[in-house]
Amino acid sequence: MNIEKNRAALRRPRKLAARPGGRLERCLLMCGIVGYVGARCAQNVLLDGLTKLEYRGYDSAGLALSVGGGIRVIKSKGRLTALRARLEEATAAGLPAAHCGIGHTRWATHGEPSDVNSHPHSTPYVSIVHNGIIENYGALKAVLEAKGYTFVSETDTEVLVKLIDSCYYGEPLRALTQALARVRGSYALAVLFRDWPDTLFAVRRESPLIVGYGEGENFLASDIPAILRYTRRYSVLEEGDMVVCKAGSVQIYDEFGRAVQREKLTADWDIEAAEKGGYPHFMLKEINEQPAAITATVSPRVEDGLPDLRIPELNDQRLASIKRVHLVACGTAMHAGMVGKYVIESLCRVPVEVDLASELRYRDPIVGEDTLLIVVSQSGETADTIAALRECKARGAYVLAIVNVVGSTIARLADCALYTHAGPEIAVATTKGYTTQLSALYLFAVWAAEKLGRIDEMRYNELVAELSALPARIQRAIDLNLHVKYLAGRWHAQRAMFFIGRNIDYAAALEGSLKLKEISYIHSEAYAAGELKHGTIALIDEGRLVVALCCQTALFEKMVGNIQEVKARGAKVLGLAPEGDRRIFAEADDVLFAPGGEPLFAAAPEIVPLQLFAYYVARENGCDIDKPRNLAKSVTVE
Ligand code: F6R
Repeated sequence: MNIEKNRAALRRPRKLAARPGGRLERCLLMCGIVGYVGARCAQNVLLDGLTKLEYRGYDSAGLALSVGGGIRVIKSKGRLTALRARLEEATAAGLPAAHCGIGHTRWATHGEPSDVNSHPHSTPYVSIVHNGIIENYGALKAVLEAKGYTFVSETDTEVLVKLIDSCYYGEPLRALTQALARVRGSYALAVLFRDWPDTLFAVRRESPLIVGYGEGENFLASDIPAILRYTRRYSVLEEGDMVVCKAGSVQIYDEFGRAVQREKLTADWDIEAAEKGGYPHFMLKEINEQPAAITATVSPRVEDGLPDLRIPELNDQRLASIKRVHLVACGTAMHAGMVGKYVIESLCRVPVEVDLASELRYRDPIVGEDTLLIVVSQSGETADTIAALRECKARGAYVLAIVNVVGSTIARLADCALYTHAGPEIAVATTKGYTTQLSALYLFAVWAAEKLGRIDEMRYNELVAELSALPARIQRAIDLNLHVKYLAGRWHAQRAMFFIGRNIDYAAALEGSLKLKEISYIHSEAYAAGELKHGTIALIDEGRLVVALCCQTALFEKMVGNIQEVKARGAKVLGLAPEGDRRIFAEADDVLFAPGGEPLFAAAPEIVPLQLFAYYVARENGCDIDKPRNLAKSVTVE
């Protein structure tokens, strides 16, 4: 490699324009990273990869390309269309096809989305894209300023690139090692050095990053869909790994600088699974994929009619030592955990606590060696869930992960994993992620109840049959509610809505309400039906829509009482009842149906009409369904 600068020249801090009055602010990111080196046009591969990652964040995007002996950076605030337009302008002005480059799509929680805050951040010698947080960026910035560096953005990433620049004497790995030794925080980084125009460098700590292997070309990405069009072969980088990636070779070094091999995995997701396949939105596609996703989750674990989790580590002895179960997750995954509590307690007769991951870590939880911690996560990369997992593991808990992404951080930190096989979930609002999590929890509960001798053979056989019937019930739930589109047309103009239910219906109400609010922006609250009268009923006014979940047939009469309470205050009621239960017509203004079956497993079919209701309401209101405002698919910061 021809390094044409001497060390002294490389050391000199380059002056960049200061942003007048620029505020020093940390930039928290949940972003998508992609990198490419090979014979194709890097611009095309990077844009294509970023399109697949846009669900991770979408308020700005950018590329850095090795061209003409330098690094060319093109970036823009806004969606990828804005970056694409800038790239077209640059191409028209003579930008040639590059063969090595890095790209980024960003979702900021601090530091406004702007051209200048967008990634890549660069000096003339090095350019980086970064996912994560540099916690001590303030102190590092002061040191760099003293050396003569100036700053144009509000981001911690700009501090990081200038730190790397200050350590760069022509040896990229040394520069990265020295710089990162001074950094506190989390990062997945893809890096271009001007003097190494055919090489990508990457580092990973606490933020996901994969390397994809092609024929005469290689890739970096935050997530599998970004590279799926080009290759299915990939490795997940481990904590502290550093990568040197050329068109014909990939070399990985561990955190001690030793050359290592990481397991090569093959993604069994096909390209269509990561594309819309004729549906107007990923969310609708993913709702319709639920029967297949549940089949893929349940059927490999039911052999000859008997559940077998296929987790050898979770043996009879381990199971017998468990005195309590802790379910920990965030958002929808936590709602799945709430359903799991009802089901596991009912079948296994073991006390179950459900915790929001972001709360558990700050409350000195009673967790020890007799605790089974079940961590639920679609992405396997949710920062709060990872932190809670670590906290409980340090206290001796045995950890089972119910997780979708193979090789994700949660899958690797857990003692064992029960994978949901939902395939790639692209819509920000999770649907098949949730129902496959429920299926995995049902499977676990039935399996453990039998092993612990808490259910007799007849009940066991009944439940196993119900597990096998789940995909058909979900399909029936889709087919039964074709009129949901019409109901959404009736109710989409509501300013606020309420969801009420009892027992498992309450847990499902929480999820139905979250789906509605996150994609339609209509304020909605879920309440345990009996609790409404203790205050919140004051919010019920004339014409307010209350969605009443009545799928727990044993509690139907109680729900009728609660429906009467809200109707007496002027509310309109959208009832959700088991198929064929005609009693609901006497109580509700409009009706949705869920196929009947085992009441303990009711949440899976009953959420389907609520997912569809949220979807069509958001569509009526012209919302950006797959990419709702302020949200990102994978929440990799605390
Ligand atoms: C809501 C949603 C979020 C996630 C939560 C946890 O539709 O998607 O509430 O459920 O951020 O994410 P995972 O399951 O990836 O840990």
